[in-house]
Amino acid sequence: MALQAPCAMGKREGRHRKRRAIPYGLTVVVLCTVCVVCFALPSVHEAHVRQIPRPTAALLSALEQGDEQLALHLLNDFNRSGSSFPQHRSRRRDCTPLMLAAGAAGRCWPRLVERILDFGLGIQAADVAAVSRSGRSAADYAELAGEGDLGARLRKLAERELKETAKQRCPCCGAPVGRRPRIASLADRYRAGQHQNPLLQEFFRKNATWASLMRPEFHTFHKSRSFHKELSESLCILAEIEKACPSVLHDNWHLIDLCCGKSLTSAIVSSQAPNLSISAVDYVSPDGIPHYAAAGIRTVSYLQQDLLDNGALQVLRERIDEVGYPTIVVGLHLCGNLSVFAVELFERLDTLRTCILVPCCLPHLRDAPNTLKHLYRRSVPDEQQYMEWASYLEARLAAIPKVTVSKTFAPHMKSKKRLILTAMKHHES
Ligand SMILES: C[S@@+](CC[C@H](N)C(=O)[O-])C[C@H]1O[C@@H](n2cnc3c(N)ncnc32)[C@H](O)[C@@H]1O
Repeated sequence: MALQAPCAMGKREGRHRKRRAIPYGLTVVVLCTVCVVCFALPSVHEAHVRQIPRPTAALLSALEQGDEQLALHLLNDFNRSGSSFPQHRSRRRDCTPLMLAAGAAGRCWPRLVERILDFGLGIQAADVAAVSRSGRSAADYAELAGEGDLGARLRKLAERELKETAKQRCPCCGAPVGRRPRIASLADRYRAGQHQNPLLQEFFRKNATWASLMRPEFHTFHKSRSFHKELSESLCILAEIEKACPSVLHDNWHLIDLCCGKSLTSAIVSSQAPNLSISAVDYVSPDGIPHYAAAGIRTVSYLQQDLLDNGALQVLRERIDEVGYPTIVVGLHLCGNLSVFAVELFERLDTLRTCILVPCCLPHLRDAPNTLKHLYRRSVPDEQQYMEWASYLEARLAAIPKVTVSKTFAPHMKSKKRLILTAMKHHES
């Protein structure tokens, strides 16, 4: 068996095996050399990984390592050169320079905090109100580091900053919202005829849908670098629903968006079906999900659930019973065993009428059915892996009593993995 790389799409279920032409030993030597060089020079490592400008990477590194003298020196350089205060965050801790100085790196450096505050309040400066991935602000870190007075002062400054910068922030969570979402440039390029994908062309023509995604409540979509691809994928799912089961968009139905990510598919479908009840399910924190209720959309709700947990099926059963409508389950790019979970869910729950599944990578070798183990060999091309994996899932769906399955290639989906399996249960009326 060959050494394989994890799937870039899903983190937990993406540990399938993939071909690699370079001999294992050589790969290890090259990777070790790169890692030793990069980690010996942390600023190089930061800059390399996130394309952070070099001076900012150096500052973040100095703060992460608690090198007060170097950090002060670098801050003085920023001041002297008249550059704006660095807006990047540390890769390891997702912290602003102020958070790191206040205690996120393990110890509080009051001199550094004061020096950073000299750059001023606001999103473009010290950003005292910012919170890290773990939801902590600079004030929280200072308090955790035993600097209660400094923490209280930072908290007051954060309140002031929130008031003064309210117009540049999301009204729900206070996250900074750009003046113009990055994704707006995609619409511009379509309008200028630079892209030809017909699904997206149509989407950008329908101003209402597009405009609603530009609202601040949807800011979690705004900075996405892969929005073009993601939008094409979600629009293909919408097109498949319209084709296979159009009543979902008009009658009383419940849609479950499995492994929803940021829930773009849910948002797109809800814009076309304002009465459809949608449960978007994933195991990530709700922080990345749009503020649907605040945007006046009461039909989309987020369910945080690890689908590989033993109780996941029961949780979804309860959700389906609670909503009480016939249900369609959608799984866009479900990695490995998550696709198997979707099939089993569809098989076991009678109220599930339709299943639209776009498989992603293979499961880990140890979880693979014996009939698919040959796919993990180096000589098997990726396309064959994907097609045989999809055929396996198709056969499992087709083996469910009273179910018919269709298989379609979505030509406008900007992904190599664009096979849509649609399974429908036929109920006697
Ligand atoms: C490839 S992404 C697909 C995201 C979304 N369907 C889309 O196409 O935009 C895979 C998603 O699966 C989620 N995921 C991975 N393992 C999971 C698990 N055990 N339970 C629930 N969600 C999981 C990840 O958080 C991620 O959002």
